[in-house]
Amino acid sequence: MKRLKKITLAMSLLGALSMSAAEVEVLHWWTSGGEAESVGKLKGLLEKSGHTWKDFSVAGGNGVNAMTVLKSRTVSGNPPTAAQIKGPSIQEWAELGVLSNLNDVAKANNWDKILPKRFADHMKYQGNYVAVPVNVHKINWMWVNPSIFKKAGASIPTTWQEFEVAAKKIKAAGFIPVAAGGQPWQEATVFETIVLGIGGADFYKKALVDLDFSALNSPTMVKAFDTLRMVKSFTDKNAPGRDWNLATAMVYKGEAAMQFMGDWAKGEFKVAGKKVGVDYIAMDAPQTSGSYLYNIDSFVMFKQKDADKKVAQEKLSQLILGDEFQVLFNTRKGSVPVTLGVARTQFDDIALRSMDTLNSAAYTNQLLPSMAHQMAVPDATKGAIVDVITNFYNTKQSSSDAAKALVSAVKSEM
Ligand code: GAL
Repeated sequence: MKRLKKITLAMSLLGALSMSAAEVEVLHWWTSGGEAESVGKLKGLLEKSGHTWKDFSVAGGNGVNAMTVLKSRTVSGNPPTAAQIKGPSIQEWAELGVLSNLNDVAKANNWDKILPKRFADHMKYQGNYVAVPVNVHKINWMWVNPSIFKKAGASIPTTWQEFEVAAKKIKAAGFIPVAAGGQPWQEATVFETIVLGIGGADFYKKALVDLDFSALNSPTMVKAFDTLRMVKSFTDKNAPGRDWNLATAMVYKGEAAMQFMGDWAKGEFKVAGKKVGVDYIAMDAPQTSGSYLYNIDSFVMFKQKDADKKVAQEKLSQLILGDEFQVLFNTRKGSVPVTLGVARTQFDDIALRSMDTLNSAAYTNQLLPSMAHQMAVPDATKGAIVDVITNFYNTKQSSSDAAKALVSAVKSEM
């Protein structure tokens, strides 16, 4: 037995040596505590396989800064080996002819079988795999500090009306009701969650996925803007410019009662050593139970002249969809596996609830792509919509003017 082990070890070492190792430069924006720990697991697995990882991280939530840097690197003819890109942008980049075709690794590893079709489709261009998904994040969460609610004598809200009642009590008790990060993408994240809550899944789809003008400029949308303004009135004056992870920290430090954010926030609670159910609670954002706004992170590989680099890209892609990585990464990142059939044993209660809602929402037509996180509409359209939301949030514009502005914004990108 020992001898056999030695032989296998020698063989695998030989294998590693005979394979030409390559350096993989990976562009990503995972720089917060929880994010960095999670992406570190991918780096570890890649290096174990014999290749080297060159970190190309560009700080800034939602990848806004990373995408700007990526464009300039690509224009100057020097794209990284791999880059975090998602949603319809995948097809936009593929159309430029700069992405590697990943069909071979996809076929060898059964991607069509292990990925839900709907998610696999996001990764394809003209039927070919050009991206590899990493995870599934749920957006419509509300992160709660239960002891603040207790001290304020407030109940955790399940509707926006209840939210207002609770927020008033929390404010009166001397706490900040909502930890907000005043950056356009964070404002848009809160807004789309409100649109889903106020309008329901069908309305969300009509407005923010299908871009139907009568839904965009409708009484329901006006109500969603009114609700956004009401929520803003419960944030603090230092919110402008604040990073999302600092807002999360306000919740676990006992300064703020709630944060509306996708479940990457869980990664921050975890690295801070906070206990779920004791120090923090994750609830569905008001009026969104049963619905799932999804956000899938993914990597594309840029075409390479060097054959070794192509081998390394395929290795990275294969590792990403392996069970080992899916567990190591997602248990830290706050997301859930994108592949089917990964054992649930190592996931916490929040992740299990996310998995269950993901499954049920798919059957009830409540599984919806996040607009704010680049899953629903082309990047330029998303940008135009986010501008309208931010402009409304930071001025005294009326809700009905904002709803009208949504239509003009969408038209301007057609
Ligand atoms: C999202 C991304 C998440 C998380 C978040 C904050 O767009 O999908 O993985 O990193 O931004 O940076």
